[in-house]
Amino acid sequence: MRPELIDDVSQSALDPAGVGATQIVDLFHWMVGGGVVIWLIVVGLSVYSIVVPGGHRPRLTKTLVIGGGAVVPTVVLSSLLCYALAMLPELHRPPPSDSPTVKVNGVRWWWRVQYQTDDGRTIETANEIRLPVDEAVEFKLTSEDVIHSFWIPSLGGKVDMIPGRETRLKLYPTRVGKFRGVCAEYCGTAHAQMRFDVTVMPRPEFNRWLSNQSSDAREPSQQSAIRGGELFRRKGCGACHTIRGTDARGRVGPDLTHLASRSSLGAATKPNNTENLRHWITHTHHVKPGVTMPAFQALDEREVDAIVAYLEQLH
Ligand code: CUA
Repeated sequence: MRPELIDDVSQSALDPAGVGATQIVDLFHWMVGGGVVIWLIVVGLSVYSIVVPGGHRPRLTKTLVIGGGAVVPTVVLSSLLCYALAMLPELHRPPPSDSPTVKVNGVRWWWRVQYQTDDGRTIETANEIRLPVDEAVEFKLTSEDVIHSFWIPSLGGKVDMIPGRETRLKLYPTRVGKFRGVCAEYCGTAHAQMRFDVTVMPRPEFNRWLSNQSSDAREPSQQSAIRGGELFRRKGCGACHTIRGTDARGRVGPDLTHLASRSSLGAATKPNNTENLRHWITHTHHVKPGVTMPAFQALDEREVDAIVAYLEQLH
């Protein structure tokens, strides 16, 4: 099934919105530009060698072979190597100690995201990362099952997520906006549907978001949502999902404490709206083949309505 495109989210390494991505684009342009120039010279010489009248002068031929075959590649490749190596210290220097650290675990086929609050608590969300603009941020990456690869093309390079090891990535977003993150290492059936949303926002807005995320789940007040909360417990959803402030403490699937505040469902497969949420609960495998969550097709219409009402007030 083809994933539905979600609004105008940028997913292009050629549309940089961060320091790392800008460096990568610059390097790309130099390489492409250099490659085109060399290609033109080679084609020009080939044409010349075919059409040159009166045979080739041995001295000129020798100069061309040594110059074009040894000197030029050595100079060009060495310069490119130095240019690329000069970028590494900037990409790998540790960020300032007060910059946010985000832990991301790759799971087939979604992303467990953890933030550290100022008072030292760890709060968890899923498939969505928010970052303050113009600040360095360090990602600590690992995997809970197979090798995944964490990549936000508009912000920087990709880094593998390896089970049992922690890899690190520093990003420095320079533009406010919404960007798409993807898994860049084939990891199984739903690899192409393992995506996430990245929102870069001004610091005050980020602080408000983080403070909301660190609170426990909202108590339902409307009748249908209250019934939905009970059904959520009765049907055993809490065995896999956590909703902080309730007795749902499962660790298998994504934390749903603030599900309604997220812009997408099913690891950025579908926009987060009522219709898609209903469809997700009852037809998980249609949305994401291979997903671990069973489709709850045995629920009747009113039960689905109630559970959706409950989940939709988890802002
Ligand atoms: Cu995870 Cu591909």
